[in-house]
Amino acid sequence: MLFGIRTINQMKKEYKRILITAALPYANGKIHLGHLAGAYLPADIYARYQRLKKRDVLFICGSDEHGVPITITAENEKTTPQAIVDRYHELNKIAFEKFGMSFDNYSRTSLPLHHSSAQEFFLKMHRAGILKEKIEKQLYDQKAKMFLPDRYVEGTCPTCKAPDARGDQCEKCGTFLNPTDLIDPKSKISGDTPIVRETSHWYFPLGDYQQRLKDYIDGKNTEDGWRDNVIKYCQSWFNDGLQDRAVTRDLQWGVEVPLEGYKDKVLYVWFDAVLGYISSTKEWSQKNGNEKWKDYWTNEDTKYVAFIGKDNVVFHCIVFPAMLMAWNDNSDVKYVLPTNVPANEFLNLEGQKFSKSRGWGVDVDEFLEKYPADSLRYALAVNMPESRDADFYWKDFQAKHNNELADILGNFVNRTLTFVHKNFDGVVPQLYELSDLDTAFVNELSFKPETVGNLIEQYKFREAVLETMNLARFANKYFNDSEPWKTIKNNPERCSTTINLCLQAVRTLSVLFQPVMPGVAHRIHSLFNLPTTSENFSWNNAAKLELKPGTKLGIPEILFTKIEDEIIQKELDKLNVSSKSSDVQVVEIKPTITIEDFKKIDLRVATVVECEKVPKSEKLLKLQISLGSETRQLVAGIAQHYKPTDLVGKKIIVVANLQPTKLMGTDSQGMLLAASDTDGKLVFVTTAGEISNGAIVK
Ligand code: MF3
Ligand code: ZN
Repeated sequence: MLFGIRTINQMKKEYKRILITAALPYANGKIHLGHLAGAYLPADIYARYQRLKKRDVLFICGSDEHGVPITITAENEKTTPQAIVDRYHELNKIAFEKFGMSFDNYSRTSLPLHHSSAQEFFLKMHRAGILKEKIEKQLYDQKAKMFLPDRYVEGTCPTCKAPDARGDQCEKCGTFLNPTDLIDPKSKISGDTPIVRETSHWYFPLGDYQQRLKDYIDGKNTEDGWRDNVIKYCQSWFNDGLQDRAVTRDLQWGVEVPLEGYKDKVLYVWFDAVLGYISSTKEWSQKNGNEKWKDYWTNEDTKYVAFIGKDNVVFHCIVFPAMLMAWNDNSDVKYVLPTNVPANEFLNLEGQKFSKSRGWGVDVDEFLEKYPADSLRYALAVNMPESRDADFYWKDFQAKHNNELADILGNFVNRTLTFVHKNFDGVVPQLYELSDLDTAFVNELSFKPETVGNLIEQYKFREAVLETMNLARFANKYFNDSEPWKTIKNNPERCSTTINLCLQAVRTLSVLFQPVMPGVAHRIHSLFNLPTTSENFSWNNAAKLELKPGTKLGIPEILFTKIEDEIIQKELDKLNVSSKSSDVQVVEIKPTITIEDFKKIDLRVATVVECEKVPKSEKLLKLQISLGSETRQLVAGIAQHYKPTDLVGKKIIVVANLQPTKLMGTDSQGMLLAASDTDGKLVFVTTAGEISNGAIVK
């Protein structure tokens, strides 16, 4: 059955080792917060957690140094692709280190090892007769005298009609494109309309693998619970039917096609990039003088988890697995396919997409000069775009740091340690008989590692981190309710027990927070003068009451210094946004349009006749609206702001000639106008006076 009902863990397999990869970022620019929240932070949390579970883990990444994004950047900056990749490989590598990424290897696809490895893959498929040579029509820029593969051309998306779709993919709707699919294509080099010219290329018959890919995804989904959004993306590609994909390009920069007569062409960047995971692992083996890369990649006992952002889903869930299948069919050495591909949605900044060209971004380097990496990791984790796009707001970052990290976690650690130093000579006090309150606390502690661990194993990082912070909340409450400042005077044994348990909880928190905040975890843990390498720093022991009475404790330092309003204001000023969330943020006005352009939009007055929630959706309401001459159904994403009854009888303004669509399986013919605030508040647009349904808004 295709995408059968999911029964997580039903076929849970015992894996011997875990291979983790995070998408190889293009070395054509600096990584931004969106990248960190999309693929890297979740991968790092997962890797660190698995290491604490004492599992055999290998965490692989590197720079993606080929492809049109690199050559375009080089052309724009009037330099060579090599200079570009050298610069950004280094910068990104350093930024990742500062952010606390715990890669076992960070490689580059420009390495000879990678080139030969990718060529070997290509040749295997070529010799097996899998690849087909085709003469195809491609776009050609006469002025620049070159073919225009992939991102060298932009135009209107044939699927969603977005005006700035790229030759390889539409960012707006995710459709996978060929440059010749674009409506009204324009060269990125000269701006000219390209002509069509013939060229020969090698094609991979992706369509031949469709059924096997479906079975593969279905099987892995049943086993490991893939994310709904990932399954949906795959399903829509299968519905469209997979097509042959060219795996060579008319370019100079990349992995040379290892065939006579093809020396002026290179492998398609995605063909080589995904193989970069394998060559990075080979490089790791070389550096360590072992052959263990084979264990990770070719042993069925490996669980392979590939972390990516949603724009990479097709390449990791369809293209890469099909390539591996093709290899495996023709070789004794068989590669493992991803067990799961937990793709995140996008992170935006203050309500808008990150954009290098518009200067809408936050430099990771600069950020980490001023603020602790762990605070950023925490803020990104609790707001991770796991199932929907999310936003980074500076004010929210400040609030997470000040009100959660400092006031909850920092406060608990500090008050506990300060109390011990003041009243127990800085030594772990004895544990005496437990009261009901103590027992409840010990219970809460004991369940946490499993609860949080299960969430991480299900790739629910937001919830995992929220649950961990809840333990710190609970611990503060336990401290308050136990009133040790009173019992120290009238019941020293009680007090000693309370403080012993608080210290145990501090230790538990240091372990459970380690995947998300490794630096803070280390600082807390070092107070106990215990080695972080031994068994006492393991997930399974995290909640054991391991601190021995009599242990001398270190002096607590302030874990989180509060971030002042002025500092955040400066950041907002840089972005030119008002920090008062009630003010509408300054959003750049879109380019001018003519009255003719505007007249294309048919805006009408309508009355909501009926309204109900769309089943299983948190956001959507289904409205029946009267346009005077007709009644229509439309779906609006306002369920978090209005109850269905709030809307019935209300006058609204709708875009009446918008192409009909389906949202969560429900037909929508038109769109309701609403205004949204930076804090997410949304208000629908209505009329000031009485006016008939169907009236034109102009
Ligand atoms: N460089 C690509 C991007 O940034 C990701 C490549 S992932 C890989 O979107 F697997 F192909 F390496
Ligand atoms: Zn599109």
